[in-house]
Amino acid sequence: MSVMHNKLDDLMQKRASARLGGGQQRIDAHHAKGRLTARERIDLLLDDGSFEEFDMFKTHRCHNFGMEDKVFLGDGVVTGYGTVAGRLVYIYAQDFTVLGGSLSETLAEKICKVMDLAIKNGAPLIGLNDSGGARIQEGIEALAGYSDIFLRNVKASGVVPQISAIFGPCAGGAVYSPALTDFVVMVKNNSYMFLTGPKVVKSVTHEDVTVEELGGADMHASQSGVADYAAESGMDAIEYVKRLLSFVPQNNMENTPLVMSGDSPDRRNEALNILIPENANEAYDMKEVIVRTVDNGDFFEVKAKFAPNIITGFGRYNGHSVGIVANQPMHLSGVLDINSSIKAARFVRFCDCFNIPVVTLVDVPGFLPGTNQEYNGVIRHGAKILYAYAEATIPKITVVIRKAYGGAYCVMSSKHLRGDINYAWPSAEIAVMGGKGAVEILYSREAKGAEDPAAFLAGKEQEYNETMANPYIAAQRGYIDDIIEPARSRFRIIKALEMLKNKRDTNPMKKHGNIPL
Ligand code: HXC
Repeated sequence: MSVMHNKLDDLMQKRASARLGGGQQRIDAHHAKGRLTARERIDLLLDDGSFEEFDMFKTHRCHNFGMEDKVFLGDGVVTGYGTVAGRLVYIYAQDFTVLGGSLSETLAEKICKVMDLAIKNGAPLIGLNDSGGARIQEGIEALAGYSDIFLRNVKASGVVPQISAIFGPCAGGAVYSPALTDFVVMVKNNSYMFLTGPKVVKSVTHEDVTVEELGGADMHASQSGVADYAAESGMDAIEYVKRLLSFVPQNNMENTPLVMSGDSPDRRNEALNILIPENANEAYDMKEVIVRTVDNGDFFEVKAKFAPNIITGFGRYNGHSVGIVANQPMHLSGVLDINSSIKAARFVRFCDCFNIPVVTLVDVPGFLPGTNQEYNGVIRHGAKILYAYAEATIPKITVVIRKAYGGAYCVMSSKHLRGDINYAWPSAEIAVMGGKGAVEILYSREAKGAEDPAAFLAGKEQEYNETMANPYIAAQRGYIDDIIEPARSRFRIIKALEMLKNKRDTNPMKKHGNIPL
């Protein structure tokens, strides 16, 4: 055997040892919990054979608490780059089989290396999280490592898309790296995120709560809004990440590639002409409008379970990726409240960062009244959606489907907030407020003196609806560019997007704005 052959053998053995992470026994224990290993997750996410690994031989430098005897090649995280559907991504996957995937100084260095490359080379960063948090034996070095990662998350924000998938524990300050990224996917019954676990909660607040209740996927996807999706399994989470990537560009200087679907741009959809109920207070499913207009009915929803009174997600019109924001009359009549404002604002800002046009479908009766909303700051949070639409310079197309009342009219990508093309269906009702509320304010004194106050007010309400609750007053002023046939919505949206494809708009020079947080 030549010297080189011996050295190659040695290299192969070291690689094999690194690939085993914490060893076969720990891998088996991990599998027994129904979890995939870090390398299996990477293999499933990336195109076959595309993964190029870094720092396989990196080890920690800690000597506390017998750590010199617990050295594993690669030290608890697998990092590198590869492709998803042929497009470059940078990736790291924490390896729970090595010291619980706990974060050491060297582990953080490995993650920071791929983050720096992602920013420099303009490709998405994907973090697959499964870690017991800061490596307890290291202490401050681990905390410094987390801070180095947080800093890079912030620097990368708005430069490259960042996606986090949580497959296991993610606790303490460690949660803030995913929280700084654009999208968070969790796995039901297997992953959790919280600042302090159930035991600390019990001792501080005396609450009895399970891990799942406190920080499980379902909770974060429906209540806190931390997660964009609660996946059924690790595989489902990986598929979600792949789909998400297909709708976003590589970086803030690029557009998402065209994906032609074969769906004709001028396809009519007759069902839309009969979608709106006769009774203005009756609900219908806004998703019908979305799936009946986007290419092949393919709509990818984000944060579906959180604040369902507003819908956010991605679709394509004639091959172009767009963000869609739509009030949902099926939930709380599509009213705007704190959570729906935050949800939509963050989504619009993501789209604006990454040159993804936004199509807004409006059916909103107003902002939700009440002490709960006021005490919790609906003024401050409602201002977020206003801010997001007003600052966005991407192409913005709005279609008022039915109600657009009061402040909520202004907020939902109106012409006044730089909406580029604003259409309305003939069913649109654009006014300061609904007829019933309006006549009660305007005619309560006269009604008291009337022979039949209820009939008097009903007459006035009809008069108000006939004169005010339609799209023509807004169209007379040019706030609405055209009133369109519902069945032709797809064609009209596609034409508008084509017309706007070279749009250039800017904001005044500034360091950054001060969004009401
Ligand atoms: C070092 C750790 C570790 C950690 C787990 N391990 N967490 N080693 N530092 N933080 C090791 C265990 O010793 C064990 O090693 C192996 O990983 C697997 O852990 P188990 O406990 O056997 O696994 P399991 O029963 O599944 O429990 C997982 C767990 C638990 C719930 C995550 O390990 C745990 O509670 N860990 C501590 C979590 C924590 O409090 N972290 C600090 C959070 S604060 P062996 O050798 O036996 O296999 C924080 C601050 C960040 O992270 C601040 C950022 C600013």
